[in-house]
Amino acid sequence: MTDGVLPSPNIWRHPGVYELENRAVDPDGVIETAMRGIRDWRGGVVLDVGCGSGFHLPWFAADAARVVGVEPHPPLVELARRRTASLPNVQVRTGTAQRLPVADASVDVAHARWAYFFGPGCEPGLRELARVVRRGGVAFVIDNDATRSTFGAWFRRELPRYDPVAVERFWARQGWARTPLTIRWSCASRADLEAIVRIEFSAAVADGILAEHGGSEVDYAVNLFWRTYP
Ligand SMILES: C[S@@+](CC[C@H](N)C(=O)[O-])C[C@H]1O[C@@H](n2cnc3c(N)ncnc32)[C@H](O)[C@@H]1O
Repeated sequence: MTDGVLPSPNIWRHPGVYELENRAVDPDGVIETAMRGIRDWRGGVVLDVGCGSGFHLPWFAADAARVVGVEPHPPLVELARRRTASLPNVQVRTGTAQRLPVADASVDVAHARWAYFFGPGCEPGLRELARVVRRGGVAFVIDNDATRSTFGAWFRRELPRYDPVAVERFWARQGWARTPLTIRWSCASRADLEAIVRIEFSAAVADGILAEHGGSEVDYAVNLFWRTYP
């Protein structure tokens, strides 16, 4: 089961701060509006791959018929189950993108957010999506766009070898569309922003960011990659 699992130190080691990060992401609903404009999940079956502590499961469950979260890291599976215990239309299963514990042609909308395991080299996961998404369904992958925005510059500082153009080319070769979006983090306080920056970046990079960037907000470019399954 651990095959293909990528360590996610931010949420694995600091689930409490990661929760603050999730609450700070995209207060304007830019991602939601873009996703719903492509394919609404009202009344459908949603799959959240790499669901972490299940932050997005209640959000989907509010108007989906059924929601399945898949997550490999056992403590996060537990947190996601606890979060959704009172929601009868949500199930959390232990598994990976490469071996989804989900039946063929059973999903209308698949979603993977901040999912490092989707990108160049993730073809086994993409084959699994093609297996489980039914005809007329859609898959969404939400990822950082390191080519622009203040957050993008921070990301490049942390990972100078990261090649965002190669990532975009990979998705285009796989036949996925790209919708560039600009969102923001709006943290409840400066202390929250500092804590979040410190779980996302190495100490030296975080020190530099916090010395030059004031306040509790940052502009943040993302790519919504998506494809339909006709
Ligand atoms: C940065 S976290 C994002 C969690 C969640 N999507 C969210 O937005 O709150 C990435 C998650 O992917 C999970 N993960 C790592 N490798 C995976 C794989 N091969 N298949 C599915 N999930 C994986 C990690 O355990 C972690 O929970």
